[in-house]
Amino acid sequence: MSWERAEMQEAQVRSWVAANFAVTADGKVSTAAGTSSQFTSPADKARLLRIRAEHDAVMIARGTLEKDRMVLGVRDEALRASRVRRGLPEEPLRVIISGSGRIPTDLPVFRYPGGPIVLYTTRRFSSREPAALEGNLTVQVMGEQEVDLSETLHHLRTVYRVRKLVCEGGPTLIRALAELDLIDEIFLTVAAKLFGGSLALTMTGLPGKFLPASRRFRLSDVKKGDNEIYLTYRKEACI
Ligand SMILES: NC(=O)c1ccc[n+]([C@@H]2O[C@H](COP(=O)([O-])OP(=O)(O)OC[C@H]3O[C@@H](n4cnc5c(N)ncnc54)[C@H](OP(=O)(O)O)[C@@H]3O)[C@@H](O)[C@H]2O)c1
Repeated sequence: MSWERAEMQEAQVRSWVAANFAVTADGKVSTAAGTSSQFTSPADKARLLRIRAEHDAVMIARGTLEKDRMVLGVRDEALRASRVRRGLPEEPLRVIISGSGRIPTDLPVFRYPGGPIVLYTTRRFSSREPAALEGNLTVQVMGEQEVDLSETLHHLRTVYRVRKLVCEGGPTLIRALAELDLIDEIFLTVAAKLFGGSLALTMTGLPGKFLPASRRFRLSDVKKGDNEIYLTYRKEACI
């Protein structure tokens, strides 16, 4: 193999990306109050934990982390024990994406146990940001104005050994991943509700420009829950 080809292949090595989202029947992902944790069942929350526990890392963007105040841990002893039996750390790595790096230090993610935290940010980030000063996380600068998501996934795979990660949002991040065609799998919960709202977000944000090309998936699993359904899609080329 030529040196250039080997280098190209190496650059393409990246973590597998699954997105996990809940939507209403009209495709909305958050309530009028702007949160997402209230509109699905306890069974869906248990499913979210199971999916988290199956991945090496969980990724979240700054907006959702602040709005939904998630811990991003696996708060279920049996699931943690099963990870350990499979040779994994008890908790997945927690990955935060923020161009500004302005992450308030009083968020639950810093207060409750979970995996190590890595912040991927940009040159806009200042080391005077509170999160960095508190020594709560490892900071990786990956881009000038926006986080370079391809580089980030390459870094996660090669440095942190993350084979597969689950991205739990939010829409701005999902949109950016979809633009780059970096979503391999989607776990989608459809709740039997309608929210309406012209400013209500969908999984890829507010209605706006089309993606550079449609991203095509194949339905690989359907499960019926109590008044909601759980769908799994795989990127066509991955099947
Ligand atoms: N139903 C569901 O399953 C679900 C799941 C997740 C979220 N949500 C809902 O979605 C809403 C939040 O969504 P959102 O779109 O406003 O926010 P978001 O995607 O969670 O966060 C946006 C922020 O993330 C950072 N970011 C994202 N992509 C980036 C990139 N490529 N480079 C640099 N920074 C990047 C930026 O942070 P900086 O400004 O710091 O640079 C940006 O302002 C909430 O209401 C939440 O409840 C619903």
